[in-house]
Amino acid sequence: MIIAANWKAYVESATKAKALFASAKRMAARPGVEIILAPPAPLLGLLVADNKSKVPFASQDISDTTGGAATGETTAALLSGMGVQYTILGHSERRAMGETDAVVASKVGHALAHGLMPIVCIGERERDAEAHYLHGIRTQIAAVYAPLSPKERMSIVIAYEPIWAIGKDASEAIMPHDLQEMVLYIRKVLTDYLPGRASEATKILYGGSVEPGNARELAGGSDISGFLVGHASVDVTTFAALVKAVS
Ligand code: PGA
Repeated sequence: MIIAANWKAYVESATKAKALFASAKRMAARPGVEIILAPPAPLLGLLVADNKSKVPFASQDISDTTGGAATGETTAALLSGMGVQYTILGHSERRAMGETDAVVASKVGHALAHGLMPIVCIGERERDAEAHYLHGIRTQIAAVYAPLSPKERMSIVIAYEPIWAIGKDASEAIMPHDLQEMVLYIRKVLTDYLPGRASEATKILYGGSVEPGNARELAGGSDISGFLVGHASVDVTTFAALVKAVS
């Protein structure tokens, strides 16, 4: 199980970041789990610079530019050169700030060109009885996959994060059988872009109110490869309990 800790902007001090990192290193020693840490950019730089552990790091975003005169931007090349391995792209909180499918697709291209593995977030704002939301999921997947080469398509991790379930508590997360249905649907859409049974090899994470109390049930009831965890990843005790619950 992959457990990707999306610290968002919750962590605002080096002291707290170091404590969470120390704990993550201990938890990563448990069999059957891979922990990925996604701190805010300055803390990412701090931690990755002297990372002697096997814990990989992710950026929470990358720039859509390739560098040069672009004030305030952080490029894939820079992050990759620093030792960052993954990048979260198309998170709903970035999309809410105006990031379109086209921008997400462009960033995925930059990430892959520089050896960063994209964790691409997709998810519906709400569900409707006629299941029109499935069309939106298909559109998000198509935007990212269509421009890529067959090899690049195999290097993407999908994070299914229904927006209605983000930042709540375990009682409002998705039900395991609904998650399983969505994972099947995503794999079906992926068969449009991947040959043979390759879609079965794509890692699909779930995110949205994953907590110690529901992680095991969600993992057991569906064919997911792990979780993208927000609020439950920024408290040492809660995160350790979550990792224990799935390992
Ligand atoms: P949450 O966030 O775990 O706080 O719901 C998940 C995410 O947005 O990645």
